[in-house]
Amino acid sequence: MARSTVLAFYLIATGLTYGFNGDSFELECPDECDCHYFRINWVTDCSESNLTEVPYDELSLSVYILDLNGNNITDLKPFPGDIKMRRLQIADNRLTKVNKEAFKGLEYLIDVDLSGNNISYVDPEAFLDSRGLLNVELQGNPLTVVEGPFLASATLQYLDISSCNLSSINPQFFDNITTLTTVDLSNNPLKTLEAGVFDVLTSLETLKLNDCKLTAISENAFSSAINIKYLELSGNHFTNTDWPEVLGKLLRLEYLNLRKSRLTSLSEDTFSNCTNLVTLILADNELRDLDVAATLGNSVTHLEELDLSNCNIQGPISGETFTNASRLKRLYLSGNPLVAADLQAALEPLPTLERLFLSNCGLRDLPDNFNVFDNLLELDISYNPLENVFTKLLAPLEKLEYLNMGYSNLSYVGPDTFSKMTAMKRLVLSGNDLLSLEAGLFGNLTQLTTIELEFCGLKRPLNGLAFFKNLTYMDLREIRLGGNPLVIPPSGPIFPKQLSQVSILDLSNCNITSLNVDAFKNTENITDLNLGGNRLRSADASLSFLERLRHLEKINLSNNNLTTIDPDVFANNPKLHSLNLLGNPFICDCKIAEMWDWANMIKGDLDVLIGAKSAEKDIVVKGNKKKKHLYCHYNETQLRNMTTMVNKTVPGRRPFAKPRELTFANRTWAKYVRESGCEPVVKILRPIALVGESFEYSQSNNITAGVTVVAIMALGLGVATLLMTIKLFRRKTVDEADTETNRKVR
Ligand SMILES: *[C@@H]1O[C@H](CO)[C@@H](O)[C@H](O)[C@H]1NC(C)=O
Ligand SMILES: *[C@@H]1O[C@H](CO)[C@@H](O)[C@H](O)[C@H]1NC(C)=O
Ligand SMILES: *[C@@H]1O[C@H](CO)[C@@H](O)[C@H](O)[C@H]1NC(C)=O
Ligand SMILES: *[C@@H]1O[C@H](CO)[C@@H](O)[C@H](O)[C@H]1NC(C)=O
Ligand SMILES: *[C@@H]1O[C@H](CO)[C@@H](O)[C@H](O)[C@H]1NC(C)=O
Ligand SMILES: *[C@@H]1O[C@H](CO)[C@@H](O)[C@H](O)[C@H]1NC(C)=O
Ligand SMILES: *[C@@H]1O[C@H](CO)[C@@H](O)[C@H](O)[C@H]1NC(C)=O
Ligand SMILES: *[C@@H]1O[C@H](CO)[C@@H](O)[C@H](O)[C@H]1NC(C)=O
Ligand SMILES: *[C@@H]1O[C@H](CO)[C@@H](O)[C@H](O)[C@H]1NC(C)=O
Ligand SMILES: *[C@@H]1O[C@H](CO)[C@@H](O)[C@H](O)[C@H]1NC(C)=O
Ligand SMILES: *[C@@H]1O[C@H](CO)[C@@H](O)[C@H](O)[C@H]1NC(C)=O
Ligand SMILES: *[C@@H]1O[C@H](CO)[C@@H](O)[C@H](O)[C@H]1NC(C)=O
Repeated sequence: MARSTVLAFYLIATGLTYGFNGDSFELECPDECDCHYFRINWVTDCSESNLTEVPYDELSLSVYILDLNGNNITDLKPFPGDIKMRRLQIADNRLTKVNKEAFKGLEYLIDVDLSGNNISYVDPEAFLDSRGLLNVELQGNPLTVVEGPFLASATLQYLDISSCNLSSINPQFFDNITTLTTVDLSNNPLKTLEAGVFDVLTSLETLKLNDCKLTAISENAFSSAINIKYLELSGNHFTNTDWPEVLGKLLRLEYLNLRKSRLTSLSEDTFSNCTNLVTLILADNELRDLDVAATLGNSVTHLEELDLSNCNIQGPISGETFTNASRLKRLYLSGNPLVAADLQAALEPLPTLERLFLSNCGLRDLPDNFNVFDNLLELDISYNPLENVFTKLLAPLEKLEYLNMGYSNLSYVGPDTFSKMTAMKRLVLSGNDLLSLEAGLFGNLTQLTTIELEFCGLKRPLNGLAFFKNLTYMDLREIRLGGNPLVIPPSGPIFPKQLSQVSILDLSNCNITSLNVDAFKNTENITDLNLGGNRLRSADASLSFLERLRHLEKINLSNNNLTTIDPDVFANNPKLHSLNLLGNPFICDCKIAEMWDWANMIKGDLDVLIGAKSAEKDIVVKGNKKKKHLYCHYNETQLRNMTTMVNKTVPGRRPFAKPRELTFANRTWAKYVRESGCEPVVKILRPIALVGESFEYSQSNNITAGVTVVAIMALGLGVATLLMTIKLFRRKTVDEADTETNRKVR
């Protein structure tokens, strides 16, 4: 029943599509472009097509969206009359000006993107004919100083002129675009804002003035722009601004960002008129003597997010501080010197807090009223010189999902600390000298996904006793244990059964000299293993642990003590696609060449060997950026023998370019493989090598064998060609149908 309904619908739909897109709907499309319907709109996509001019003559008059981004267009001429274009995208070209003639008659135009050109002049009347214009993007053009009104449009709502090198905005700038709701002026070296600039923008809701080198804002700057809800002023150099007056006009303000703006003080009534403020960002300002309570006043009753990070606030954050901001959900106090007792009083009125950031606050104790936070999801108390025996205080946080207690001077974490935090997903305890973990410490964390225990002085990898014996921690996928001086047992698994679902494991810098074959017996699902910075050697079977890791995709063995490596050790890791071997003292031998061939031929991608090719970002023409390269070095015997080796050429390898001097013992793998004269290994080159062998065989005596091989190959090729032809033919018919529905044949 359902199936026949679907079929009926399908038949009706296809019928309609064919009818609708008949010949009369086949629209014009320039040769270089790709045209299609999007819904019922004709889209002409000529982006990145090396065009030097707009293909005016070939455009359909019904083009709805014309995309010319990323070409080499230098000039615009008039578009054909009657064109119904709604959106013109011509970003990242080489236009130098926006002329009136070019946009003449574009009555239907709504959006224009002219960003990333070389435009210095915009004719104020360029868009007069576009009576429904809404959006203009001009960011990233070197506009020259504008005198008088910038543009005239009775409908424009969105204007982006960020990064345009404007050094001033004249008082008439916006006179003829008074309908704007969003203006982005960021990253222009404006220095000051004259009074009256925004006066005409009575509908303005979003204004961005980040990184404008502003030192002052005139007190009446926003006196008429009273609808602003969202104001960004970060990255400026304010020294002299009467904030109560400036902000006093913004009765509807909901979001204010003043990050890193060199503020040094804010007076009592700064936000007294901002009763709708939801987000206030004051981070990275030197607000040493800020009286938070007085500054917030009693008006900001809707505040949900307050960021005071790194403000070096010295005045106490205490009892009254947040009483008037009792709806706060996210509070950032990191990087300010705090005292637990004061903090405790300050946090008391904030029971709805969801995220609290107290990193690097010089805290020696914790407030002991965490029981008021019924809703806390995230808590960061890292980088505080905490003194012990406090961890009990955290116990009431039953909803907590993310807890960062890293680098907090802990030496002991009581066994019950986390027992009620059953919702915990990510726990960070790195950088504390824990030495060992209490039995059952993580037992109740059944929803844990990530645990970080780096640099904790642990000798045993995660002890089974820290978890409940009877459970498998199904969500625990990531364990970070880097920087612990682990002692690895000579036999048997190093992780307990409970952790069988782990897929990302970091054991870097753990002083590991060897791992036994069963090391990962209980954690066979590892996909990403970091063993960098250990002391693994190329001794017998030192990498035999790899046999069990059939799901391994990525392994880091950099900066170990490997002198040689055999591709055979990865025989059981078919999914491996990233192998880091940098920084090992490899001896140049034919195993190096074999490893190279393995990456190239078996994996089909030399990039599997990290450092085999220099990454594009590491190629620097000038300067001396260090390139990441795989190296091996010759021993002395080899070096003495070099002159006899260098003339050898091997089929299948790039010809050896004789080095100018042979005094250096270090070789990149790439160079060594070429000069080594190591024969490619048959099993690695199997497909090619086998055919090659047969040919040699046939040449010598047994002709029939060779003929058979050739015949089989020819037959194979024939069948393949036939199959491809059929496939192509079928695809073509499908394509044609497809084209009929919505594509123009080129
Ligand atoms: C554009 O031209 C350059 C050289 O002029 C050429 O290398 C490149 O392939 C061309 N790109 C396209 C998409 O045709
Ligand atoms: C644009 O032209 C320049 C020089 O005329 C050329 O180097 C560049 O590749 C061209 N770019 C495109 C996208 O065609
Ligand atoms: C633009 O504004 C000026 C006043 O600044 C006015 O004289 C002129 O007529 C306006 N032009 C248009 C096209 O609206
Ligand atoms: C605050 O708003 C009131 C009107 O609600 C206004 O009279 C007063 O001038 C404003 N304060 C400042 C400092 O602008
Ligand atoms: C683990 O959590 C459960 C439920 O929250 C609780 O009843 C139990 O006491 C906790 N176990 C321990 C060892 O704290
Ligand atoms: C697992 O053992 C712990 C104590 O070791 C106990 O509290 C818990 O209820 C047990 N859980 C299950 C699922 O048996
Ligand atoms: C690293 O392991 C060796 C033994 O293999 C031991 O002598 C040394 O003390 C360990 N280093 C550290 C920092 O624990
Ligand atoms: C590995 O993962 C698969 C699928 O998630 C699972 O079926 C299997 O039990 C896991 N292996 C181990 C050793 O846990
Ligand atoms: C590396 O291995 C060599 C022997 O192969 C040993 O002499 C050397 O001490 C090892 N280096 C380190 C850092 O473990
Ligand atoms: C030098 O390397 C060659 C080839 O890898 C090897 O046969 C020889 O034993 C090495 N000699 C020394 C002194 O390590
Ligand atoms: C290497 O080849 C050059 C010329 O190609 C020849 O002069 C030289 O004798 C050869 N060296 C050896 C060791 O065969
Ligand atoms: C020196 O080079 C010759 C010629 O390639 C080779 O036969 C011989 O084994 C090499 N000797 C050593 C010690 O590598």
